[in-house]
Amino acid sequence: MNRLPGSGVCVAIAVAAVVSVAAGQDVALKDLMPAGTVIGVAINQRQSDGTDAASVDLITKQFNQISPENLLKFESVHPAADRYVFEAQDRYVQFGADRKMQVIGHNLIWHQQTPAWVFQGADGKPADRETLLTRMRDHIHTVVGRYKGRIHGWDVVNEAVDEDGALRKAPWHEGIGDDYVAKAFEFAHEADPDAELYYNDYNLEKAAKRAGVIRLVKDLQARGLRIDGIGNQGHWQLATPTTAEIEQALTELHGTGLKVMYSELDINMLPPAGRNADPAVANPYAGGLPDEQQQALAKRYADIFGVFMAHHDWISRVTFWGLTDANSWLNRGRANYPLLWDRQRQPKPAFQAVVDVLRRTH
Ligand code: XIL
Repeated sequence: MNRLPGSGVCVAIAVAAVVSVAAGQDVALKDLMPAGTVIGVAINQRQSDGTDAASVDLITKQFNQISPENLLKFESVHPAADRYVFEAQDRYVQFGADRKMQVIGHNLIWHQQTPAWVFQGADGKPADRETLLTRMRDHIHTVVGRYKGRIHGWDVVNEAVDEDGALRKAPWHEGIGDDYVAKAFEFAHEADPDAELYYNDYNLEKAAKRAGVIRLVKDLQARGLRIDGIGNQGHWQLATPTTAEIEQALTELHGTGLKVMYSELDINMLPPAGRNADPAVANPYAGGLPDEQQQALAKRYADIFGVFMAHHDWISRVTFWGLTDANSWLNRGRANYPLLWDRQRQPKPAFQAVVDVLRRTH
């Protein structure tokens, strides 16, 4: 470095400032959120184990909440009737505790990522109501009980409602009946009376499904059960749902008196995966995201956070479903770009767009 007498420090500071502005990492989302709303990310096992050290640094810097992308799902934590697995799960919870983050549990009861043995009875027949209730209670008591006082809130039931608003024809429902959701909330509350309990689902910007979810949570409330919040997953596209639909859904969900959280936010940049589709159509951004799309994504995130910040008193949490585009579940063999950081862990224009909206909220 050229050193003019007395100017070395200033040059060094100037260089550092340019580097950090270029990296865009001098600012942390968690420092810009309004009081009462946390911001988080779903982390994978390489992150909670600490193997992916660079991602750990970014998560630690940017977020004050974590969700487990897969580790606390039934098949991960309870793969066989007589076997629970807790090693990596304990590390996930400790990861959050070490950093004073809000630690979420996802999820207890779902029709996916649940082993087949759960639903099997004797003689290859489907398990009956009493068997399923016993298994549900054992699972919830064991998992929620282990992390009592350490997991802030649980997605107790995930995706129980169909697009038409009726209860989904899932094995838990078929085997137990309509009150299976209530039973899950009852067992979770027994296992940790201080934990927050949530119902979590997607497509809540669609009126019929939203109405079904609101009916369901009102039924839980009418039964006198503890329920603290509704998780709106927020797996959205560039153009849909519209911000008007997002705002309408938020207003109605808030109308239940519950906390609203955006629990799995990402923006799918790809068309629906079709069979035998021309690769140029099915995987259009294999070579990179064109600038126009990059800017469209930034605007989309700005618009979404504009709605969130206009009603931030109603929103207790915003969680991205993955840290960088490399981590996203939406790739599935294609190149997707749904998140705020790119595959090199560099902030995208969408990151800056969110920062700008959050700064205007102060
Ligand atoms: C996804 C994970 O991201 C993937 O790694 C896994 O293979 C499938 O599940 N709704 C949910 C999440 O509630 O648990 C899902 O996570 C995404 C959709």
